[in-house]
Amino acid sequence: MPKDMPENLPFEFFFSPEFSANPYPMYAELRAKGPVHRVDFPPGAEAYVVVDYEHGRAALADPRLSKDINSGPEWFREAVRDGDPILADNMLMADPPDHTRLRKVVQRAFTPRRIELLRPRIEQITAELLDGIAGRGRAELIADFAFPLPIVVICELMGVPVEDRELFREWSGALIDPPIDEKQQARKVRATESLRVYFTDLIAERRADPGEDLVSVLVTSDELDDRELVSTLALLLIAGHETTVNLIGNGMLALLLDPEQFALLKSRPELVPNAVEEFLRFDAPVERGTFRIAVEDMEIAGIPVGKGAFVHVSIGAAGRDPRANAHPDGLDVARQDTRHVSFGHGIHFCLGAPLARLEAQIAFAMLLERLPDLRLDCREDELSWRLSGSIVRSLSALPVAF
Ligand code: HEM
Repeated sequence: MPKDMPENLPFEFFFSPEFSANPYPMYAELRAKGPVHRVDFPPGAEAYVVVDYEHGRAALADPRLSKDINSGPEWFREAVRDGDPILADNMLMADPPDHTRLRKVVQRAFTPRRIELLRPRIEQITAELLDGIAGRGRAELIADFAFPLPIVVICELMGVPVEDRELFREWSGALIDPPIDEKQQARKVRATESLRVYFTDLIAERRADPGEDLVSVLVTSDELDDRELVSTLALLLIAGHETTVNLIGNGMLALLLDPEQFALLKSRPELVPNAVEEFLRFDAPVERGTFRIAVEDMEIAGIPVGKGAFVHVSIGAAGRDPRANAHPDGLDVARQDTRHVSFGHGIHFCLGAPLARLEAQIAFAMLLERLPDLRLDCREDELSWRLSGSIVRSLSALPVAF
């Protein structure tokens, strides 16, 4: 950890492998100095990172902070446009009134009541995945369990062919991993084009022959134009699995590294829903957080923020704020009143939160029941995290034995 934290944190700071391996000590060091820090990301721009719970939560719901790329400086708008922004025309990148329109039509499919109806099918998929590994004695929990579960569920919910899941995995990885070099940039361009062609074809198919699935509901609603449709479908597919994989993977790792908490959860399975909230707080799937753009001059925690400045809210840091949660660096599956912003806050609060919670609760309950003596099958320092700089905190692999 750097001894002398620079005042203006360099871009590289957030992209270093050390930071990706364990960002929490650095967040704690920053938070001790103040809730808001200037950061050189994007390089050369006026940008800040918020590392406490109170100001982070407030920033996420502040109408003076926009999600629309058009609120950003000209060079940024151009850069996004040139990058062929398949993900720029959906609710996540919109302010009201567009946000309200784009979210409303999808929201109907994601109410807690509708999601609860998926329970038996999610249990069945989970059981099948566990049947596949139970007799083997070892498994790679990300590839064998944490990835297939949410991708199969979101594909079925949307009405997208499950057989194409490895394609989606590659495309969505290419889109959310940072384009740090030419190779990565080329991969992103290819993935964008492939996703666009894929969804354009699917939209045409469902328009001609609609079914009961979400793609059909969206294409027949006539509330979204074709660009918005492609962008919304890409968002749902990506958000629908990239995040939940990490909730299951990071949560399981936290348990494997804390035998007392693991034993407690096994002895009291009724704590699983509570434990899932704790996993969300303890090692947030979207750890690096999300950004907003100031639409007017303002202050956050007394720090002046100019119109057009970028404000990153560090979701992982907010959950570890000692003013929000006592002993924040300890895992406590029985913790009450867990405070986190791991699903965001305000109008962009995660649309898929009921689904992600249900999937994770079923996954942990069945994993602990079927594989109670699960243990890590490598040294802790052999674990590797996905490409540094990714917004998600994602294990490359989680080898386990049982
Ligand atoms: C928004 C996290 C699962 C769909 C968000 C936001 C966060 C988040 C932090 C807010 C971003 C912001 O304010 O800028 C997570 C986590 C998940 C998860 C941690 C799993 C553990 C899902 C799933 C789906 C989904 C399963 C869909 C099927 C969305 C959508 C939005 C969103 C559509 C945009 C909402 C809006 O802009 O109004 N998610 N998500 N998410 N999430 Fe999730």
